[in-house]
Amino acid sequence: MCGIIGIVGQTPVAPRLIESLKRLEYRGYDSAGIAAFENGRVVRRRAEGKLRNLEAVLQSEPVQATVGVGHTRWATHGRPSERNAHPHQAGRVTVVHNGIIENFAELKAELAGQGRSFESETDTEVVAHLIDSELKAGKPPVEAFKAALDRLRGAYALAVIIEGETQLVLGARHGPPLVVGWGQGEMFLGSDALAVGPFTNRVSYLHDGDYVALDAQGARVFDGTGAEVSRPPKQVSSSAAVMEKGNYRHFMEKEIHDQPEAVQHTLAAYLDPVRMRAEAPDGFDFSTIDRIQIVACGTAYYAGVIAKYLFERYAGLPTDVEVASEFRYRSPALSPRTLAIAISQSGETADTLAALRHARAEGQKIAVVVNVPTSSMAREADRLWPTHAGPEIGVASTKAFTAQVSALTALVIAAAGKRKKVDGNEQARMVRLLLEAPRLIAEASEAEDEVRAIAYDLSKARDVLYLGRGAMSALAMEGALKLKEISYIHAEGYAAGELKHGPIALIDEQTPVIALAPYDELFEKTQSNLQEVGARGGPVIAVTDRRGAPHLSSTARLIIAPEADPLIAPLVFAPAIQLLAYYTAVHKGTDVDQPRNLAKSVTVE
Ligand code: AGP
Repeated sequence: MCGIIGIVGQTPVAPRLIESLKRLEYRGYDSAGIAAFENGRVVRRRAEGKLRNLEAVLQSEPVQATVGVGHTRWATHGRPSERNAHPHQAGRVTVVHNGIIENFAELKAELAGQGRSFESETDTEVVAHLIDSELKAGKPPVEAFKAALDRLRGAYALAVIIEGETQLVLGARHGPPLVVGWGQGEMFLGSDALAVGPFTNRVSYLHDGDYVALDAQGARVFDGTGAEVSRPPKQVSSSAAVMEKGNYRHFMEKEIHDQPEAVQHTLAAYLDPVRMRAEAPDGFDFSTIDRIQIVACGTAYYAGVIAKYLFERYAGLPTDVEVASEFRYRSPALSPRTLAIAISQSGETADTLAALRHARAEGQKIAVVVNVPTSSMAREADRLWPTHAGPEIGVASTKAFTAQVSALTALVIAAAGKRKKVDGNEQARMVRLLLEAPRLIAEASEAEDEVRAIAYDLSKARDVLYLGRGAMSALAMEGALKLKEISYIHAEGYAAGELKHGPIALIDEQTPVIALAPYDELFEKTQSNLQEVGARGGPVIAVTDRRGAPHLSSTARLIIAPEADPLIAPLVFAPAIQLLAYYTAVHKGTDVDQPRNLAKSVTVE
């Protein structure tokens, strides 16, 4: 969602705040701002739009300060504008905020009743007013802050500075994460380790409910009850701070091409290439459970749907998958022998985190397949099953997705082995297949010329349908999501057999249909569905392999993917749909890495 940075430093703070915000821009980018102490007074600079607009403002109106806070915004309350950009101020108090204050309307009415006036449409401004009114009532800064926190409902991470307290930055976490960075004679507060990465790799993760007071010497952390607590710093990997595009035009393009490596690194945690065995990193015994319940959002959800097909087919393990935002608000019938698995790139998605907590409250054991090992989900789960995709910056998820699917496929083999659904030889065969995936993904990413040409035509479409059968139907939905996210073309993914039950009414000469059609046991069925599309004049694009190609060449334009066993076909076909979306967006000239209205990590409901 939004990105937060706070610095109590010794050197000019404005360039440091900007450096950090550049790393946080993936969280939100509709406006940005900073506030800092200049000669004892708080000065503020804000700009609508990308961070470069704020940089331009700072060039014409520089800030001379060493202590300050910064923010990059993904709008929740109030449209993107300079007026709604953070930091927000009231009296002596300046606040940046990530999250949503659910009771802001009632607090605003109360504060307005006391004669306070508001200049923005945001929920955040009430926080500044609340703290300021506690200060006015005579409370010292940390007490005033705590008193204000006690009035807030919702999810928030906050950083606050107070006029007259020029060496103090306050922070609080209730829901979205917040970290404290420990420097040499200077301290930092950030919405994640990336935020403080340019300055330090010693980081403390605040617990839910914590609040903190930073000065140049250190941090005093308090838990939700007000008791002072210790949150010792940990060393975080410096790679968290490395985010370069290299020679690629966009992070998304780079990340598509990073996939063979991301998958290989991930598989190394699950596969033993000497014994040709697969195992969960913690050795989990899948014969101790009767059912899996997967919860996730967006792309991670589609990775979960693919896993469902594989767990049931190869390990005979009944598997349910549900979008986390639904799961958390109903009363799912869970049995004690169910394992709940949350899947997430960031490990911070509010809906998935809440679903995980919901399952825990229902007495479930929780495993997480997660890319950020220091994230809230990683810390809260009973079992951490990592993906090793490295930092993913493009808002549209690519390498995190294939890393998730590869980890889950390895777990499927482990489950099949432990549950005696396959013997040693068959397990070795499956492991061999999965070890081949990085090479085949690399080969699949070479089909760029055909993809680019097809994407040019696709960029003229208003609606696009994606079709697939079996696990490929989930990949079809993921393909549609990718296209929607970055090219803004309306797209839907369907199980190919469903077409005739309604969506076929949409087919005309202007509605391209993209079929994911590996030459497998369902190929002929998909082929028939494509005939039905062709008969209605719909342009057909088929992603198939060399064996499928001759059967489809008269009906469809072809993108050829490497031949792959059904166990790994979703991994091998993924680059084609990612590249199609990528080049369509490039042809349309949209902002590929930071598409409109989206944010990389969605830490509000
Ligand atoms: C995918 O391209 C997305 N931008 C989005 O759907 C994402 O997968 C979803 O928000 C879940 O995020 P997570 O994996 O960090 O939990």
